[in-house]
Amino acid sequence: MTAQHAIRVRGLEKSYKQLHVLRGVDFDVARGSIFALLGSNGAGKTTAIKIMSTLLKADAGTVAVNGFDVVKHAGKVRESISLTGQFAAVDEILTGRENIVLVAELRHLKDPGKIADDLLARFSLTDAAARRASTYSGGMRRRLDIAMSLVGEPPVIFLDEPTAGLDPQARNEVWQSVKELADRGTTVLLTTQYLDEAEKLADRIAILHEGRIIVNGTLAELGQVLPPAKVEYVEKKPTLDDIFLAIVGRDSNDSAGNERSVGSTSKEN
Ligand SMILES: Nc1ncnc2c1ncn2[C@@H]1O[C@H](COP(=O)(O)OP(=O)(O)OP(=O)(O)O)[C@@H](O)[C@H]1O
Ligand SMILES: [Mg+2]
Repeated sequence: MTAQHAIRVRGLEKSYKQLHVLRGVDFDVARGSIFALLGSNGAGKTTAIKIMSTLLKADAGTVAVNGFDVVKHAGKVRESISLTGQFAAVDEILTGRENIVLVAELRHLKDPGKIADDLLARFSLTDAAARRASTYSGGMRRRLDIAMSLVGEPPVIFLDEPTAGLDPQARNEVWQSVKELADRGTTVLLTTQYLDEAEKLADRIAILHEGRIIVNGTLAELGQVLPPAKVEYVEKKPTLDDIFLAIVGRDSNDSAGNERSVGSTSKEN
């Protein structure tokens, strides 16, 4: 385990009965970076997150998080991470502040009230702190959910589709919060189906398709996958949508067996 990697995944495989969901997944996530795992419905994003967060056992392969193997040192991994699931874990009956205090108490931390007030301020929820979460907008609820996952300051956080179902304004609010997290040194692995989300947020983007990472790179590196555009037609840089379709859409028979490596990939050992 090299110290600069917060997450290291090698040869990960997982099947549900006959359904071979992960077929050999490899990638690294650098400390303090934002890594986006992109894929369509059913690609296996949540499955991968569950394995990385010790909730599910892989059939083959290894995962190290914060330097700890997820099987041999599951307890250490759990101390190092938080997981914000695809569906919000906020208690609607409690106020925003009470939700955070509850998590701090469950984690046996000192001064839950102060922890709550600090996090509420960081996520611009101070004014709404005393209101029941049931009165929050989708964006506020998601921010509260992420704030709750930061209680105890885990160095690695997993966000499974953090902005699914949110309107553009709310998505922007969540994006801002996620950026601030990484600025403070937290490693963020997020999954998304939104290409623009990966484009806006992530230092590195990996596309999970038919059980494998078919491309892994920075946005600039992903841009090189496309053939160069003819100068006279170029009005803007290709979007991730263009890149995604160029890789996945055009030639789906070919894509299962051939990983497209871009820039420095996760292949080094
Ligand atoms: N417990 C399970 N038992 C059987 N099949 C499962 C189970 N969990 C997931 N699957 C299947 O595995 C595949 C991958 O599911 P997963 O939830 O990891 O995808 P995902 O990329 O997170 O999709 P989404 O974008 O819809 O959240 C899907 O075909 C799903 O139906
Ligand atoms: Mg999912």
